[in-house]
Amino acid sequence: MKTTRRSFFKTLGLGIAASATAGTMLPRFKAEAQTLEASATKIFDNGIIQLNQNESGRGPGPNTLKAIRDHATKRIGRGYPSDYVNELHETIANEFDLDKGNVLLASGSTPLLDGSVKAFCSRTQPLVTAVPSFSTSASMARKIGAPVREVVLDDSMTIDLEGMAAQAPGAGMIYLCNPNNPSGTIHGPAAIEKFVRQVMQTAPGTIIHIDEAYIDYADPGAMETALPLVNEFKNVFITRSFSKAHAMAGLRIGYALGHADTISAIDNSWGMGDVTMLGAVGALTSFKDKAHIEWERKENAEIKALVTKTFEDMGFEVPKSHTNHLFVNLKRPASEFREACLSEKIAVGRDFPPMENSHCRISLGSREEMTQAIEVFKKILS
Ligand SMILES: Cc1ncc(COP(=O)(O)O)c(C=O)c1O
Repeated sequence: MKTTRRSFFKTLGLGIAASATAGTMLPRFKAEAQTLEASATKIFDNGIIQLNQNESGRGPGPNTLKAIRDHATKRIGRGYPSDYVNELHETIANEFDLDKGNVLLASGSTPLLDGSVKAFCSRTQPLVTAVPSFSTSASMARKIGAPVREVVLDDSMTIDLEGMAAQAPGAGMIYLCNPNNPSGTIHGPAAIEKFVRQVMQTAPGTIIHIDEAYIDYADPGAMETALPLVNEFKNVFITRSFSKAHAMAGLRIGYALGHADTISAIDNSWGMGDVTMLGAVGALTSFKDKAHIEWERKENAEIKALVTKTFEDMGFEVPKSHTNHLFVNLKRPASEFREACLSEKIAVGRDFPPMENSHCRISLGSREEMTQAIEVFKKILS
């Protein structure tokens, strides 16, 4: 999608006008403001339903949006250093019973992924990763000339932990995405613990990065955070993102949790970017709004069940997803399906080698978006 500077500011103008008024107005004007806001989104998205980047079709919760709007004042002119960023740092540390030195904030979790590869991998220290999995770490490894040891997902589209552990000796870092993007599959706490203990024995010098970007979407009880392993092993760290269930991809906030030495090695290796004042205000509110995140998980789960059933009814296999996306075995190249969808104004995921000739990743949008998308999927596939 291409957005000209002018159309971007036009969009922004509409959005701000709508937001500024929505909180205080009579219902009639409120509805009008909401319509304006919806049309602003439409202009920005160019009329295309975006099911290609695992973003949120719903946006942040109402409390978070209100907090951001309430802070969109002249005070932005005095933004550094922001007390809100400090408060966010402290709040996250307290939530996980850690010190501030165990928490690293960044503008999205991407700089943390990049930074950790720069810190722990090199020409002589390979990266181990599953394929297909989130590819930022592997891309950075290739950029700096670090070898990449790839371990293909097993037949159930789950990360092959035995295979990953076998590749650990001599590696600088293992990237383990749990839940995994694009497959949506998970490993429960017992399997992760067994894997970590095994690697810490056979490859004590290797760092393990567990990316929990989608953890808030996992079915209750199906998986757990690897935080207890972070507390036990200096070489294990976690990253999280505010871009998924918290729906703040556009505000760019992520964080890492780990041993203070591991955290400062990541921090020293790469610019982490600043967290903005409005981003921190939004993240603080959303982080505390557990009820909304639970609502978001349930809403996504219901939509996921509906879309999964649609594909299964047409005879396509869908691995059990604990995320806001599905990795459907369409038995045809993803590119074919992608082009057909795009001609119907729906963008679906990119190629995920080595499964680009059979599987396509489809992000889950809002109910309204998915109702439209389902009709298009049926038209193309049946
Ligand atoms: C598994 C995973 N980790 C990290 C990211 C990066 O997200 P962000 O930089 O927005 O926090 C993504 C984005 O799609 C992701 O899927």
